[in-house]
Amino acid sequence: MIISKRKVVFSGLSKRWFDQIFLGCGLLPFFLFGAAEKMAAQAATPPLATTPPMGWNSWNTFGPDINAGVVRQVADQMVDFGLKDLGYEYIVLDDHWEGGRDRQGHLLANPQKFPEGIKALADYIHGKGLKLGIYSDAGDQTCGGEVGSFGHEEDDAATFAGWGVDYVKYDYCNAPDDFKEAIRRYTKMGDALKATQRPIVFSICEWGPRSPWLWGRQAGAQLWRTSFDVGDIWDTPGNVQSCIGILTAIDAEANLEGHAGPGGWNDPDMLVVGLGNKGNIKGGGCTVAEYQTQMSMWCLLAAPLMIGCDIRNLDAETKRILTNPEVIAVDQDILGSQGHRVARTGCTDVWLKPLVNGAIAVALLNRDDHPEMITARWQDLGLKPEAAMSVRDLWSHKDLGTYTGKLTLTVQPHATILLKVVSPSETIKK
Ligand code: GLA
Repeated sequence: MIISKRKVVFSGLSKRWFDQIFLGCGLLPFFLFGAAEKMAAQAATPPLATTPPMGWNSWNTFGPDINAGVVRQVADQMVDFGLKDLGYEYIVLDDHWEGGRDRQGHLLANPQKFPEGIKALADYIHGKGLKLGIYSDAGDQTCGGEVGSFGHEEDDAATFAGWGVDYVKYDYCNAPDDFKEAIRRYTKMGDALKATQRPIVFSICEWGPRSPWLWGRQAGAQLWRTSFDVGDIWDTPGNVQSCIGILTAIDAEANLEGHAGPGGWNDPDMLVVGLGNKGNIKGGGCTVAEYQTQMSMWCLLAAPLMIGCDIRNLDAETKRILTNPEVIAVDQDILGSQGHRVARTGCTDVWLKPLVNGAIAVALLNRDDHPEMITARWQDLGLKPEAAMSVRDLWSHKDLGTYTGKLTLTVQPHATILLKVVSPSETIKK
């Protein structure tokens, strides 16, 4: 099995295979070693990412063409469009900000793209009440061929902290396939970030083959990718191996809900909502219904919400999808429970996410190219069949009424209806 990033096609089979290797390989001593020291250190630092991180990442739109001017404009728009007030707070510089190392081995920013350096940019971003994220790699080169952090972990972590970085996305290109080595490399950077004593969210990006949901927290991370890069596309194309579709990323999260919670999140990759085939990533574009499905399901899955489109030019539909406070509230619910699938029939899914105060979010997902009637049965939702429940449609902002036993709605092709279901004695928060 080749784990090299560019060559693997994600499949449930390969993930199961890795899970079995993990559980069968006696990793327990590895996890237990040093656990007491780590728990003591963790107790001293404030909790990070108690709800899934939200923000914007440069990669999907800009790829290699990122620079300080663009980032400042994005920061301005995050505030001016009200995205910040909705919880989007991290601005993450993905690959290609780097400019090699100086003679002492310290990381440098690309002087053409970031002439004032990263610290000045961080100051600007912090001045807006936002936070700065940055990208590096556990190999000696990043996926884009820039300088990586392998062998420089302590120094790079100190550099990031000195610049005022609040979030590090750490990739796994040009690094060995071996999972124990991957754990070692991520733990090394996780420890180095912790040693800076600056609260820095640590995001593992090894795409899932080494089951990072099993060891991510122990390595010091607050989120870990569960699949390969999501393209601007609904379903995974048979002939393109370098990206997956929205549906595949959703399916990769099924059965991983036990590994997510406050301080540690499964990450199905960034949002492609609003890219409209104009970005840096492959795919060909999605319909509005498909983008809305991505947002619905990411929230149902308590996934990190990293916008990938150019927020300087948001069209009305994209803005509507990204800024619905009732939908975002499902993602950010303080219970921190990742949703799970409770029923699958042919091309339709019913997913459930427990919310605080006994409420639940329910997603009705239609994979089909035709409208489908989808039924959520109370017994599948863990409700008593005789329970009368109030149902609210979070996209249309409408109370649908009180239902007993089950609820059937027509769902348009590739669309998802996201509902909040509560006992009528509870007030539905609007
Ligand atoms: C990998 C990651 C992407 C992006 C690029 C940058 O492909 O999975 O999210 O960071 O590298 O080169």
